[in-house]
Amino acid sequence: MSGKRIVLGVTGGIAAYKAVELVRRLRETGAEVRVVMTTGARAFVTPLTFQAVSGQPVHTELLDESAEAGMGHIELARWADQVVVAPATAHFMAQLAHGLAPDLLSTLCLASAAPVLLAPAMNQQMWDNPATRANCQVLSDRGITLAGPASGSQACGDTGPGRMLEPIEIVQRLGVSGTGCLQGRVVVVTAGPTFEDIDPVRFIGNRSSGKMGFAVAEAALAAGARVHLVAGPVNLRTPAGVERADVRGAVEMRDVALALAAGADLFISVAAVADYTPAKPERQKIKKGPPRQTLDLESTPDIVAEVAAMEEGPLTVGFAAETENLRQHARDKLSRKRLDMIAANRVGLDGSGFESEMNEIVILTPEGETDLGKGNKRDLARLLVEEAARRLKGKDDIESCTAQNTRPATRN
Ligand code: C5P
Repeated sequence: MSGKRIVLGVTGGIAAYKAVELVRRLRETGAEVRVVMTTGARAFVTPLTFQAVSGQPVHTELLDESAEAGMGHIELARWADQVVVAPATAHFMAQLAHGLAPDLLSTLCLASAAPVLLAPAMNQQMWDNPATRANCQVLSDRGITLAGPASGSQACGDTGPGRMLEPIEIVQRLGVSGTGCLQGRVVVVTAGPTFEDIDPVRFIGNRSSGKMGFAVAEAALAAGARVHLVAGPVNLRTPAGVERADVRGAVEMRDVALALAAGADLFISVAAVADYTPAKPERQKIKKGPPRQTLDLESTPDIVAEVAAMEEGPLTVGFAAETENLRQHARDKLSRKRLDMIAANRVGLDGSGFESEMNEIVILTPEGETDLGKGNKRDLARLLVEEAARRLKGKDDIESCTAQNTRPATRN
């Protein structure tokens, strides 16, 4: 985190006092922190407190000549590598979900290309309110990270979800102190669907949103790896620090993925790659014709199988999205594609496993299986990355052991 530039937005909730410790924790990691406070936040904690702990002037006004002369709101938005809002009130999240910008913090969030993490804090009834639920969904669909809230006793006397995460947990969610199990490793992740062009306006696609793949890339980064993300056409923000290459069709994805896999330790193939592509995409739009049309399709390269077949290639992990006979189909793929691991998840016409935030995963290896259970994609991604890292370490141990055993005996 050394040198990382963080804008910390503080909004008007009692948890604002915890944001003071958050500034301290972030600075301990080497990050530079600039605090932006809403009017509500200033009813709980004074700007002077944040100025003292951040070592920087605190920003409060949008239309203030002297403030704009120092660091204007657009400059501040560009300066940030990461925006964190803690605590984020229900009101602030509603503003952000609707693209409103009445004050400095909300304007800055709209104007910044940096990833945004919100640590919600509110009364449990407010958190459960359908309006808040809908706003959370909108924000999360736009790639904004919601960290928490935790459940427990609240300042208002209620018990339930709505407590802001502890500052150290927020720091962890920012990937500052991931498990470190992939420290020094290079990881390639493919994500999203592929679009196979039929003509200049039509294509064959699928329902993959890319959320699982992006969560895996983020988890690998938090675990200390350098991460290359090869993304099909998706509408998601790149997790800060991940190196992303955008591709469209399966052949393009294969070319980019294979080039990157050559220098990688771990390859995780989450993309829903089309199995077939039009043999000859038309250069002009196909006109309406007879009542039945036939599309000539040819099979696409199997990217993950090609990576698994590379000599001295990376540890290779596939995904199997199945509507039936989950384990059996996944195990067939594991052996047919000669993978080291496969993550099997059920998908359905109801959309489960695709656009949803939740998933259910079982990991299969040639030797056995580990059920990761149900959970949100971020948590499952972290568990998957930990499993892959364990296997990677096991592979290294076996290789170094084999190298020692085959080394010619030395005479004294
Ligand atoms: O055979 P199936 O498509 O179900 O296999 C799923 C796994 O194979 C996923 O990991 C997917 O990313 C990968 N795959 C691939 N190239 C293809 C088809 C699938 O890498 N052409």
